Amino acid sequence: MQRTKAIILAGGNGSRLYPLTSIISKQLQPVYDKPMIYYPLATLMLSGIQDVLLITTPHDAPHFNSLLGNGSQWGISISYAEQSAPKGIAEAFIYGKEFIGSDQVCLILGDNLFYGKLDFLRNALQSNKGATIFGYPVQDPERYGVVEFSPDGTVLSIEEKPLQPKSQYAIPGLYVFDNRVISIAEHLKPSERGELEITDVQKEYLNLHALRVEKMGRGIAWLDTGTPESLLEAGEFIHAIEKRQNLKIACLEEIALRMNYINAEMFEIMLNHLPNSSYREYCKRVLNEFQSE
Ligand code: TTP
Repeated sequence: MQRTKAIILAGGNGSRLYPLTSIISKQLQPVYDKPMIYYPLATLMLSGIQDVLLITTPHDAPHFNSLLGNGSQWGISISYAEQSAPKGIAEAFIYGKEFIGSDQVCLILGDNLFYGKLDFLRNALQSNKGATIFGYPVQDPERYGVVEFSPDGTVLSIEEKPLQPKSQYAIPGLYVFDNRVISIAEHLKPSERGELEITDVQKEYLNLHALRVEKMGRGIAWLDTGTPESLLEAGEFIHAIEKRQNLKIACLEEIALRMNYINAEMFEIMLNHLPNSSYREYCKRVLNEFQSE
C-alpha cells in the first residue's frame, strides 16, 4: 500500500450548533457515548492509517490534546496544527504541508461519521492515482458538494451547495489525494464566501483527468452532525446499533488491539488507567475475548 498520512479537520465555528458550541467545539460533543472525534479517528485507524494530523482552532487545540494526546496509547501518532480562522477545508493541505511530506493524504472532516464495511476506503488508499472521492445518495444534496455523473458513470460536474442539484449524490467529507494536492491548494483563490473550497481542489483534479468518484454503497451509513437534529440522530443511530449488538462502535482501544497497533500487554496497562465505567467494562471484555481467541 502507498504510504498514507491522514488529516482530521476539526476546526470551524460550529455555529449551527450554538449554544452547544459556545464553549466546547462541535467535534468534542458527545455522539451517544463517545466524543464525536472518536468516530473519524476510528475510521482512519480501521483503514490502516497510523499517522494523523489533527487541525483545529487555537482555542480547542488544548482540549483535543488532553483527550487524545500523541496517540501512542493506541499505537498511532497524532500531531496537531491550529487553523487561525475557518478559511476553508482546502486550507488543511497548506497547514498540513510539512506533515504530508511526499506521501498521499486522506482528509476526513471531524464531524463526519461512517459506519459499515470500510473496504471502499482501503481500496481507495491502495489504488488512488490522483484524487478519489465518494458519492453518496442523500435526500438534501443542496447542503453539500454535489457530483453529476453521465449514464456510463463518468463525472460531468462538481458543484458546491448548488441551489439546483444535478444529482442526488453528495460528496462526503472523506477524500484521498496524491501529493499534488499541496500545490493545488496553494494556488487556489478564495471563493466568494472567502474560503479555499475543497470542491475547487476536486475540480482541478477533474480538469487533470485524475479524479475518481466512487459511489458509496447502501451498506455504508454516512452521517453528519452539524445541526442539533443530525447530532441527535447520529447519537440515536450509534445507540441503536451498540445496544442491539452489545458491541461498541469506535472504541479506539479495541481497534488498536484488533489492528495490532498495540499488544495485549499495552492494552491491559491502558485498561488499568480507565475510570470505572461501562466503557472500561467493555474494554475488559474485549481483552478477555482477545486472549481466548
Ligand atoms: P462546516 O460544517 O461547513 O462548518 P462549521 O463546522 O464551522 O459549522 P457551521 O456551519 O455550523 O458554523 O465544516 C465542516 C467541517 O470542516 C467541520 O468539521 C469543521 C471543519 N472546518 C474546519 O476545520 N475549517 C474550516 O475552515 C472549515 C470551513 C471547516
